[in-house]
Amino acid sequence: MAQSAVRFDQVRKSYGQQAVLQGIDLEVATGAAFGLIGVNGAGKTTLIKCLLDFCHVDGGSIEIFGTRHTDSRARARLAFLPERFMPPYFLTGRDFLGYMLTLDERSADEDRVRAMFAALDLDAAALDKPVRSYSKGMTQKLGLAACLLAEPDLLILDEPMSGLDPLARARVKQLLRELRQQGRTLFFTSHALSDVEEICEYTVVLHQGRVCFSGSPRALMQDFAGDSMEDAFLKCIKSGAHD
Ligand SMILES: Nc1ncnc2c1ncn2[C@@H]1O[C@H](COP(=O)(O)OP(=O)(O)OP(=O)(O)O)[C@@H](O)[C@H]1O
Ligand SMILES: [Mg+2]
Repeated sequence: MAQSAVRFDQVRKSYGQQAVLQGIDLEVATGAAFGLIGVNGAGKTTLIKCLLDFCHVDGGSIEIFGTRHTDSRARARLAFLPERFMPPYFLTGRDFLGYMLTLDERSADEDRVRAMFAALDLDAAALDKPVRSYSKGMTQKLGLAACLLAEPDLLILDEPMSGLDPLARARVKQLLRELRQQGRTLFFTSHALSDVEEICEYTVVLHQGRVCFSGSPRALMQDFAGDSMEDAFLKCIKSGAHD
C-alpha cells in the first residue's frame, strides 16, 4: 500500500478531566481528500492541534508521510489554515504573502499572487491594504491564498469555508479539486456537509471522543439510510452516543 499522508494510531488527548480524543485511529492515503466532521466541541480542532504537535498527546502515535509528528521534518511538506485565522494586523496582504512564502523558501511571484487573488474572487487592490481593513471573508481568502500558493503536498484546513460567500465557496471548491488533480492531499474539517460530500472520498465522524463512522460520504448515507449527508450524520451521532 502507498505511504499514508496522515496516520493516527490510538491517539488520546484530555484537557484536565475531559477526555476529548479517546483512542482515535485514522488513516488518510496520499492524494486523498479527507473531511473530518462532528458537532461543535467534538474535538476536530484538537485532533488537528495534535497532528501539528501544537499540543501534547496523552497516548498513541501520529505520523505525517511516515514521519513521527513530533519531528519537525514531518511538517516540511504541509500548509495549515487555522479555524481562527488572524494575520498580523499591521501587514498588507502583499507583505503577509511575501513573508509566508519566504518562510517556505519561495518567492511571491506577482503574477501567481494576482492569479490566486482572482481565483478566490479577491480584489487585487486589497494586496496593498493593511489586513486590519479586510472583512472576515477577505481575511479568510488571504489565508487560503497563502496556503495554496505554498503548493504543499498536504493541505490542512480547519473550516476553510468559514465566512465565505457562495461564489467564494464555489471558487475554493474548484481550487481544492485542482489541488487533488495534482496529487496533493487534503485534510479539512467542515460543518458544511454538502462540501464534504462533494469534495471528499473519505470522511470520519468524530463524536464524544471516538470515531463513530469512517468511510466514504456515500457509505455514510448508505449505512445510516440517510436521505442526505445531514440526515445520515444526525443518525450516525445518535447511534454513536454513549452517555
Ligand atoms: N485549550 C483547551 N483547554 C481546555 N479545553 C479545551 C481546550 N481546547 C479545546 N478544549 C475543549 O475540547 C473540546 C473539543 O474542542 P475542539 O475545539 O477540538 O472542538 P471542535 O470539534 O473543533 O469544535 P468546533 O466545531 O466548535 O470548532 C471542547 O469541549 C473544548 O471546550
Ligand atoms: Mg474547531
